[in-house]
Amino acid sequence: MTALSATGVRRTFTAELAPVRALRGVDLDVEHGEFVALMGPSGCGKSTLLNIFAGLDVADEGHVVVDDLTITGRDEGWLAEFRRTHVGIVFQFFNLLEGMSALDNIALPAMLGGMSRRAGESRARDVLDLLGLGDRTEQLPASLSGGQRQRLAIARALVNQPTVLLADEPTGALDSEGGAEILELFRRLHQDGQTILMVTHSAQVADGATRLVRMSDGRVLNGGPADADDGDTT
Ligand SMILES: Nc1ncnc2c1ncn2[C@@H]1O[C@H](COP(=O)(O)OP(=O)(O)OP(=O)(O)O)[C@@H](O)[C@H]1O
Ligand SMILES: [Mg+2]
Repeated sequence: MTALSATGVRRTFTAELAPVRALRGVDLDVEHGEFVALMGPSGCGKSTLLNIFAGLDVADEGHVVVDDLTITGRDEGWLAEFRRTHVGIVFQFFNLLEGMSALDNIALPAMLGGMSRRAGESRARDVLDLLGLGDRTEQLPASLSGGQRQRLAIARALVNQPTVLLADEPTGALDSEGGAEILELFRRLHQDGQTILMVTHSAQVADGATRLVRMSDGRVLNGGPADADDGDTT
């Protein structure tokens, strides 16, 4: 069964000088349970594609399916609900709520996802425990290390048990030790069945995934389910 599917996806941004054709007909399928690394030169459209799968941006043309739900042609209200319940999103720079404790950063999206405060806090504690932050619940994000902040952001992404975890350069702001720790965590989540699509510029990080997909100039070069990873990540 397909977790993520993009067919003929195009996205053009209006810019001052000339339109930027960020996606020029993307085809990509990711099956449930896969851990896919997405690589390609800066500006080739990786973040744009991830944002479209996340329901944060909308394709101009083409068809996008996430977990058997067609997300193209939906209005913003539908997409907001979809983001809360179907996808977990992790960015390079964490995007945590700095004025809130680690626990509240996780409990809030749980409550937005429909849980009571009590259930949300309980679920948040479970996820923080799972991610090794069980003793950090009362701390503010600023008092955590970069790796811990990213684990907090991953906890937030996982709290509503998303079909897919979408991560845009999750190790990009971390030193090699912090990056290795996050990659190890992703591998563990994948082993537990989590579907992951991760953008990275690091061949070493991509090596931790189970399939490598390459993009170039607004297109995916090897996006079909039959296009096996050739193992060459250099
Ligand atoms: N909101 C926007 N408005 C105008 N142009 C944009 C916008 N977002 C992205 N672009 C352009 O679309 C193209 C693809 O951008 P995108 O961010 O998807 O690339 P990327 O592969 O993620 O690059 P990087 O590796 O540097 O993060 C780039 O030329 C970028 O400048
Ligand atoms: Mg990007």
